[in-house]
Amino acid sequence: MTGPSARVPRLAWLLLFLVVALTCHAARMGITSDSDSARRRIQELRTEIARHDDLYFKQAKAEISDAEYDRLKQELQFLEAAHPELSAPPPEVGDDRSGRFPTGVHRQRMGSLDKAYTETEWRAFHTKVTQELGRSDLVFVVEPKYDGLAISLTYERGVLVRAVTRGNGVEGDDVTANVRMIEALPPTLQAGQLPPPVLVELRGEIYLDDAEFARLNAERESAGEVLFAHPRNLAVGTLKSADPAEVAERRLSIVLYGWGAWEGAKPPQSQLEFHGQLRAWGLPVVKGSRIVRTADEAWTAVRTLARGRTTLGFPTDGAVVKLDDTALRTRIGEGPTAPRWAVACKFEPEKAVTRLRAITIQVGRTGVLTPVAEFEPLELGGATVARATLHNRDEIKRHDLRIGDFIEVEKAGDIIPAVTGVQVQRRPAEAVPYVFPERCPSCQTAVAAKPGEVAVRCANTRCPAQRQRRLEHFASAPAVGLKGFGPATISALVRAGRLQGPADFYRLTRGDLLAVEGVGEKTADRLLAEIEASKQAELAGFIHGLSIPQVGAATAFELAELSGDLAGFGRLGGSRVVDAVGPAAAEAVADFLARSENQADIRGLITSGVSAKADQPVRANLPGKVFVFTGALPGLTRAQAAKQVEAAGGAVRDSVSGKTDYVVAGEGAGAKLDDARRLGVTVLTPLEFAQLLGLP
Ligand code: IVH
Repeated sequence: MTGPSARVPRLAWLLLFLVVALTCHAARMGITSDSDSARRRIQELRTEIARHDDLYFKQAKAEISDAEYDRLKQELQFLEAAHPELSAPPPEVGDDRSGRFPTGVHRQRMGSLDKAYTETEWRAFHTKVTQELGRSDLVFVVEPKYDGLAISLTYERGVLVRAVTRGNGVEGDDVTANVRMIEALPPTLQAGQLPPPVLVELRGEIYLDDAEFARLNAERESAGEVLFAHPRNLAVGTLKSADPAEVAERRLSIVLYGWGAWEGAKPPQSQLEFHGQLRAWGLPVVKGSRIVRTADEAWTAVRTLARGRTTLGFPTDGAVVKLDDTALRTRIGEGPTAPRWAVACKFEPEKAVTRLRAITIQVGRTGVLTPVAEFEPLELGGATVARATLHNRDEIKRHDLRIGDFIEVEKAGDIIPAVTGVQVQRRPAEAVPYVFPERCPSCQTAVAAKPGEVAVRCANTRCPAQRQRRLEHFASAPAVGLKGFGPATISALVRAGRLQGPADFYRLTRGDLLAVEGVGEKTADRLLAEIEASKQAELAGFIHGLSIPQVGAATAFELAELSGDLAGFGRLGGSRVVDAVGPAAAEAVADFLARSENQADIRGLITSGVSAKADQPVRANLPGKVFVFTGALPGLTRAQAAKQVEAAGGAVRDSVSGKTDYVVAGEGAGAKLDDARRLGVTVLTPLEFAQLLGLP
């Protein structure tokens, strides 16, 4: 036999193969064997990871997907393992402290979780635990891993006294006032047969569920603003808001999955017992958890959760598998950053590679130019997608996207498809760099971004694309609600010259409508009836319908209350607008009302017989009164109670002082009741409070 195998011993071939394979693997991961370049790469990765930690934890605006982040971490781990001589800094959990809140110290350290990305890694964890404990009859609980931010709640004798974020694991941001705005969280534990522990630290996750995330994005969309990309970032941003009222407006959710300190009572002996205790206290428990007894069963449960992740109703990025038995947890103990008795099995993001065919530009109704990636259709999370938003001009630059590129598309936060990467090594020679337009694709006006803003805008208010979007929005349900006036009908009426501004809807004749293709006698009559009925619609709907930048449904509502009617809105101004809607929206409203064409629209609506009026505003009967709540308020959440007080002109504070006018003390009232008595502040029962505010 001739050929290489005859001359070269088999072992040498095997070695050669191994070297080639390892080099290829290293090359794939961007690694060279040379220690110097490894040092450089490790340094680079550490800097990059620290930057992303900062973006994610402190600024709540991640630039990369979890999967991309995990890949950086994996590469770093791989390099550090391969180069023990380049000793790693002490491991730390991420740090979410923002410096904008008082510091809260955890009684017991708040750790992170070790992660398993594959079935093999899961099995390795299972084997290690089995061996370490010397038994094979271990019971585990599989829970969904909620994707939000970790929180530690301290209840003293059944009363919520503190809520602190994980921070660096030792201390975090004290966000108690904001957490009190979460409707699903009772301020006192429901009484059971046993007295509540003297002190307990309950650990859990604060998140936005799918429905609320969709609702908030729908609001953004109708305000012509860029959509939120990720429910987790939005949850973090909301919880870290300086204004508890803002927290109450975005309905955050909370779930509890563990505990730290547990004093003055026996802690639960198992995770299942803990779930039961949470239920008895009236606290939210993880959904869809499973008890499993073998590694196979556990992996099946993880896969089942992964498959059903889009139907859970909340964002998840994995499953957490934890030993059920608390005594066994104590035996196996904690690692430097994470317990040894639990592991997070991360889900693969739903992701696929496709080719970018084109980038198109959408002009929104407030003039923002949004680039959209148009690609070869692919299946993602059970749906066919062919386009994904590229958010803004900078995003294209960041990815260095070229037409013809192979791009990675992921369902970010499981909801909106996003382009998360480019496979640069597969870039075809003919791929064409994308040049962001300098002129509006609809009206050719030069476009620009305001200093400090990423959004590029077309400033021409007569731009046809903007006008079409604005008219569609005016007719849409969240605004005035003219059923039957869809994009096609509106576009036809615009082309016929019958529709330019919102007031023109009220000047349309039967003949105008009959001239639209597909509109018959019956439809025309129905459309006319819609228009007539809409004259009585609420003022907030009209204000929202005018497409003023920064003015979504909620802001429109505030403006309507200030204005009383359309004419009042046309004259609106002054510091009370700033007080009601904040400086940015107030400035946008002032700019809008300063333009003669907008004043003409408003006058046009009025002369067409639109009699929109605001709902009767609530009378302020408690101006300046300061309230503090303690204990339970039957039938009212804290957030609702706070809203009622504010609507009556009062304010809610977190602690009792000489400036407090009333302390409302419900069942399970805590130390604040003692403070009130000491300071001689009027104490109200929940019933007296309701009577004072004239609540039903
Ligand atoms: S158990 C010592 N269970 O995942 C930490 N964590 O990366 C024990 N998380 O910090 C955590 N859902 O914020 C646990 N069902 C669940 C969870 C969960 C989400 C978060 C938590 C933790 C992070 C670890």
